[in-house]
Amino acid sequence: MAHTLPPLPYATNALEPHIDTMTMEIHHGRHHKAYVDNLNKALEAHANLAAKPLDQLLREISQVPDAVRQAVINNGGGHINHTMFWEIMGPGGGKPSGPLADDIAKTFGDFGQFQAQIKQAGLGRFGSGWAWLVFAGGKLQIVSTPNQDSPYMTNQAPILGVDVWEHAYYLKYQNKRADYLDAWWNVVNWKKVDERYAKAKAGTL
Ligand SMILES: [Fe+2]
Repeated sequence: MAHTLPPLPYATNALEPHIDTMTMEIHHGRHHKAYVDNLNKALEAHANLAAKPLDQLLREISQVPDAVRQAVINNGGGHINHTMFWEIMGPGGGKPSGPLADDIAKTFGDFGQFQAQIKQAGLGRFGSGWAWLVFAGGKLQIVSTPNQDSPYMTNQAPILGVDVWEHAYYLKYQNKRADYLDAWWNVVNWKKVDERYAKAKAGTL
């Protein structure tokens, strides 16, 4: 079955002023759409791979034939990363609650130190990529990946991720990635992140 572009769960202007409408339109409607289209193209002659859930395909990336492996990494990663990105954002902001709040405090000291480490991971990524909170080896960890590499490829469950490609922020923030990373916390939907953490611990994310 072909992969499809999921609709945004809110209007393209819902994250204003922190993420502008035009960025959302281009990011979702063109960049994410291109990942979906190119993933489907890469899998056209591989019905067995196209039938697998995308997270499974990325976990089993070493089994993907050489001829399409990099296309699956780039476009399958691009599709699953952005699908998560739209899901964990929304107007509101706030803080995590419940077990995730407790475990962030236990793992990183407090919420402010957690935010600082995510920011550092995003700033430290040279070029394009992502900063992540992942659940792996039974614990929370902060990591960064280049390009559209998915944490699933290294058996890490992505709880939260922030896109640090220039296409995510350049229209509003130009070269000021740090300002974008600071503002991004205003549009995190912690209810969804809490849900992803519960799923990750249950082994269903
Ligand atoms: Fe992106």
